Amino acid sequence: MNEIKIFCPATIANLNCGFDIMGLCLETIGDKMIIRKSPEKGIKITKITGANLPLETEKNVAGVAALAICKEAINRVSFKHGFEIEIHKKIKAGSGIGSSSASAAGAVFGINELLGKPFSKHELVNFAMKGEVVASGSEHADNVAPCLLGGFTLVRGYNPLDVIRIDAPSEIYAVVLHPNIEVKTSDARAVLHPMISLKDAITQTGNLGGLIAGLYTNDYNLIGRSLNDVLIEPLRKHLIPNFDQVKNAALQNGALGSGISGAGPSIFALCKCQKVAEKVAFAMSESYQNTGIEFDMHISKINPNGVNIIKN
Ligand code: HSE
Repeated sequence: MNEIKIFCPATIANLNCGFDIMGLCLETIGDKMIIRKSPEKGIKITKITGANLPLETEKNVAGVAALAICKEAINRVSFKHGFEIEIHKKIKAGSGIGSSSASAAGAVFGINELLGKPFSKHELVNFAMKGEVVASGSEHADNVAPCLLGGFTLVRGYNPLDVIRIDAPSEIYAVVLHPNIEVKTSDARAVLHPMISLKDAITQTGNLGGLIAGLYTNDYNLIGRSLNDVLIEPLRKHLIPNFDQVKNAALQNGALGSGISGAGPSIFALCKCQKVAEKVAFAMSESYQNTGIEFDMHISKINPNGVNIIKN
């Protein structure tokens, strides 16, 4: 195989109580990438459509992640060629649904396939995280892990990286309202406090435990009760116009929970079944009309596979 075409899905990180450690993979929104072997060594970004992003390998998240996997791959497989990468963006940068992660995860997944899969999908998370640094200044895996592995993911630890994949309860749907404004992850991280109170830590860890237990036991009510964030949301929500109104509209119309998707500005809701998801999406849209800000709505099931190959 000399060339591979892949779908790189959008993701929702944090899921309220799991800042920097929880995430899920979406099915209906994502980028496309084409990766091919080239006789020239090294990594070359040959084409980007749908976004104004740097073509220079070291400045591009996909380029940096690709360099990271290639550096390590030479210890496992012998190869003398390089790789060319085409990126066709559908996920807008700074949208809060893992735009940079999709590119980083796509690059390492594609190169791993073309090299004969020397690394497991779990191992690929390490390389994709290197790309995330270019976008946000920090090595967090809560978008790249679900993008690569699918389902829900928990980053149990960062040093060493320990990622656990959890199957999604079958009836869960995600709704995402993406306001067409940009919130840079680095700016959304700058508003956070380095210290938290013991009381808040107890509340947050209780909710995180509840979310994990709810996912494993398919307990939708427990999932809903646990989708709360006392640490991050209060400090970030002012960055998102009408956040409280949208969240309330989602909850009043049957969502299990709602909150900031990743670093924002997207607002997500999790719902049990498609019918509720459609009602919630309608209510969230209605509550955003008066802002004058354009927005996109997405309804998606949870993607069980993560990044995958597009067969022509
Ligand atoms: N966990 C990260 C944050 C996700 O909230 O800053 C951003 O990509």
